Amino acid sequence: MGIIIALAIAAGLSIAYGVAVARRQAAEPELRWDWNRINTDEMSFPDGFLWGVATAAHQVEGGCDNNNWSRWETATAPDGSPRIARGQKAGRACDHWNRYEDDLKLIDDLGVAAYRLSLEWSKIEPEPGVYDEGAIRHYHQVISALRKAEIEPMLTLHHFTHPTWFEDLGSFEKVDNIDHLVRFAKRMFAEYGEAVELWCTINEPAVFTTEGWFRGIFPPGKQDPQLSAEVLANLVTAHTEIYRAIKAMPGGERAQVGLVKNIFQFDPDRRYHLGDWAVAGVLDHIFNDAILDCLKTGEFRASGPGISLRRDIPDAPSSLDFIGLNYYSHFRVRWKFDRVAPFDMVERPGDIRTDMPYPIYAEGLYRALIRIAELGWPIYVTENGIADATDDRRELFIRRYLYALSRAVRDGVDVRGYFYWTLMDNFEWAEGYDMRFGLYAMDVDTLERTLRPGSKAFVDIVKRSRDLG
Ligand code: GCO
Repeated sequence: MGIIIALAIAAGLSIAYGVAVARRQAAEPELRWDWNRINTDEMSFPDGFLWGVATAAHQVEGGCDNNNWSRWETATAPDGSPRIARGQKAGRACDHWNRYEDDLKLIDDLGVAAYRLSLEWSKIEPEPGVYDEGAIRHYHQVISALRKAEIEPMLTLHHFTHPTWFEDLGSFEKVDNIDHLVRFAKRMFAEYGEAVELWCTINEPAVFTTEGWFRGIFPPGKQDPQLSAEVLANLVTAHTEIYRAIKAMPGGERAQVGLVKNIFQFDPDRRYHLGDWAVAGVLDHIFNDAILDCLKTGEFRASGPGISLRRDIPDAPSSLDFIGLNYYSHFRVRWKFDRVAPFDMVERPGDIRTDMPYPIYAEGLYRALIRIAELGWPIYVTENGIADATDDRRELFIRRYLYALSRAVRDGVDVRGYFYWTLMDNFEWAEGYDMRFGLYAMDVDTLERTLRPGSKAFVDIVKRSRDLG
């Protein structure tokens, strides 16, 4: 009798397990297309689709020596090793600050009609409440040069960097500090709001907090899961406050203001394994859904090992004119019996790797677009690109990802534009200059920029799309 009961329980458990796995499989298929049967020439984009390229101030301008990153670049880890690969520093970067006019010609040569750039807060407000007129003038000049060239500017207010004084105040660890960024945003909108319609408030809150407070490889280099969740909630709050503030200003109703969300999917490596599903589920929840759900419901919830946070941000669902999507790839995770590091990131045999530790996975862009389309806002792809120093995968990447984009558009996703990351090789944060994302290769010694052969695919697709549109 005992055996029969045990067998019945075992059978019941197996069925429950099977059903649980089957449900997850159905809800979250890891999409795979047969690229041998796809003609990537078959893509099309709507009339007026906005093609652009993207950069961020600290990565390209040079002379950013008063922010959280410049400080981080001279710091060392507890074991004495440098924080940035091989001890590199952003330094003069691409000298874009001085060469922007030539760079605008490079943008124009690509045939694109838009440029996403960020304002360097530490140059504009080097001390709390003290504004540098020269820096403010500089961005006026950049924006009017863009307008003259008929290139639409998209401005990001916070792209990973902020002044050292703000870092010293505890940056986004404290709710009270949000006012400083809101004040800066208002001042920037008063300056540039007439000439600039497209505004991104904060770039990739989840990357910024995961790397800075969870993994500790970006400043401030902490490893504190609960604090990382609080910072994340504060960033969403900061976004909603900036949105409200801009909308209340003269011209605010004309502005299009959005938050930039990076999506990296976490997929279970063994799709039959509930352990892998569980790890993927927790990571996906913290990295993606905590923010996306909050934008949907106004309630921020983050929970997982060492993390438990619930906060009402009631304005969140009504604080967007568009959502910016940054998409690069996905991660496959495999659960393991280890209390400290309970999972590994694994590669799928046959995948083509980029120089970053993730593969080319264009289907993921399609998935990400479908996922954020559920929120109901127009979408701009605000970043997408590949680190490929040898330029032997760039063309394939471009063709596949743009094909995936066009397929999402065909399937009804309201995507208004696409910004390639990035114009030219630049300072890739913790990787320094080692990662080469540029459509133009940049020689770090001579600063010379040269269009990469693989980038021509992008130029051709944009040209075809604009000729038709
Ligand atoms: C980010 C940023 C960019 C990166 C790009 C390539 O995602 O980290 O928005 O500044 O350089 O994504 O990794």
